[in-house]
Amino acid sequence: MTKPQIWVAAFLVLFILLFLLARVSKNIDQTTSPVTNPVPQTDLSSGDLTAPELLTKLGCITCHGPDLKGTNMGPALSGLSAFWSRDKLINYLRNPSSFMDSDRFKAFKKEYPNVLMPAFGNIDVKDLGKIAEYLLQL
Ligand code: HEC
Repeated sequence: MTKPQIWVAAFLVLFILLFLLARVSKNIDQTTSPVTNPVPQTDLSSGDLTAPELLTKLGCITCHGPDLKGTNMGPALSGLSAFWSRDKLINYLRNPSSFMDSDRFKAFKKEYPNVLMPAFGNIDVKDLGKIAEYLLQL
């Protein structure tokens, strides 16, 4: 081998060694760092929770108040049966934004300009039914 060839060969070996070293240390990193799940695992399958328990668990009372009499983040939930049927109310909970055009909701929008009623489309319909029945008889 000529002298330049030896240099090239030496560099090649060096690079390969560095590459292997990097891989080994990466493997070590992976095995020592604990595997954490970034998505918090909240258990939303309710089992036999009662409607009031669901209202607490789903955070409804944060905005509508522990007694559902309303806060500055959400209206009181009373007398709902004058406006809602059971099915309509379930649909509303699943997708509140689809009701925004009614006058009732234009008024809400003015009263709670910075708060949005969240959608609960990922909640078991049976639970939403339980909630709807409970709210309608308040
Ligand atoms: C982040 C606050 C917030 C949370 C949490 C929340 N809501 Fe609401 N909710 C509102 C606001 C604000 C309105 C008024 C409509 C609007 O502006 O979107 C509303 C409206 C409603 C209405 C219609 C009231 C009416 O008089 O027609 C019902 C029913 C309702 N919420 C039930 C619930 C239930 C049940 C839950 C829990 C599963 C819940 N909300 C969680 C803020 C909230």
